[in-house]
Amino acid sequence: MKTVQGIKEVRKQVEKWRRKGLTIGMVPTMGFLHDGHESLINKARKENDKVIVSIFVNPTQFGPTEDFAAYPRDLKKDEKLCKRAGADLIFNPEASEIYIDDASTTVNVLGLSEGLCGGKRPVHFGGVCLVVSKLFNIATPDKAYFGEKDAQQLAVIKRMVRDLNFNVEIIGCPIIRELDGLAKSSRNTYLSIEERKAALILNKSLKLAKKAINKGENNSQKIFEIITNKIETETLSKIDYIEIVDSNTLKPIETLSSSSLIAIAVYIGKTRLIDNFTVEVK
Ligand code: PAJ
Repeated sequence: MKTVQGIKEVRKQVEKWRRKGLTIGMVPTMGFLHDGHESLINKARKENDKVIVSIFVNPTQFGPTEDFAAYPRDLKKDEKLCKRAGADLIFNPEASEIYIDDASTTVNVLGLSEGLCGGKRPVHFGGVCLVVSKLFNIATPDKAYFGEKDAQQLAVIKRMVRDLNFNVEIIGCPIIRELDGLAKSSRNTYLSIEERKAALILNKSLKLAKKAINKGENNSQKIFEIITNKIETETLSKIDYIEIVDSNTLKPIETLSSSSLIAIAVYIGKTRLIDNFTVEVK
């Protein structure tokens, strides 16, 4: 396994593989890798001849008051995980390799990027789409792997790929959790011991909603209240949003239907965490 920093080096390697007729899977990440990322790499490993993992803390997807500078980084540890999971190439560019000073092109998926996390983080999905399109153009993967943990990101990327005719198949992968139910996240590292316990409220509130849905509740407002009330029992928490939307359009729904997404973002202290589940109502 090799780590490279340059676009040219990635292109050269990809060209060699292409000449041999090999298929390429890509896992875009911001590093500080955990089991969630590893599950994506494992799936890519199974479904492709070669696997590229990109590790790049992308400045354009962070707002001015967000945690770009503080975002955790540990390339050595990430390299070990990638090697163990069977990656062939890590692309770990500097920001100057990806972004040209006088660049003037933007990539925005309208509508889908506007609610949920996009509503709270206005520049976020523009930055995600810009960097992911660049990564796709650099590495030209056959398949690319994204986690359902970032459900809106997955929907936005799928739409971007469809709309712009990127020649890549987007594969969604299930949320990987800690044993106690907390969704794995590089940002969990920000949590103090007390906050780590408090963070369980995200999954607990979703479980409660799931239970009510399984008993027949299909009114979005009721489900919203169940989740709100549960989260508010945790004093260290502050709700950023609770959204009950159609999983394809990401538009709010009044009554749960065939494929509904229940997505939440909650501050635990200063750390913003997200979680979600998709419910199939017959
Ligand atoms: P990052 O947060 O590092 O996540 C990289 C990929 O891992 C994303 O597709 C994310 O959904 C997935 N992932 C994270 N935690 C997961 C978990 N617990 N279970 C399953 N999958 C999980 O998402 C980004 O980086 C960036 O926005 C990126 C797409 C790389 C663009 O910069």
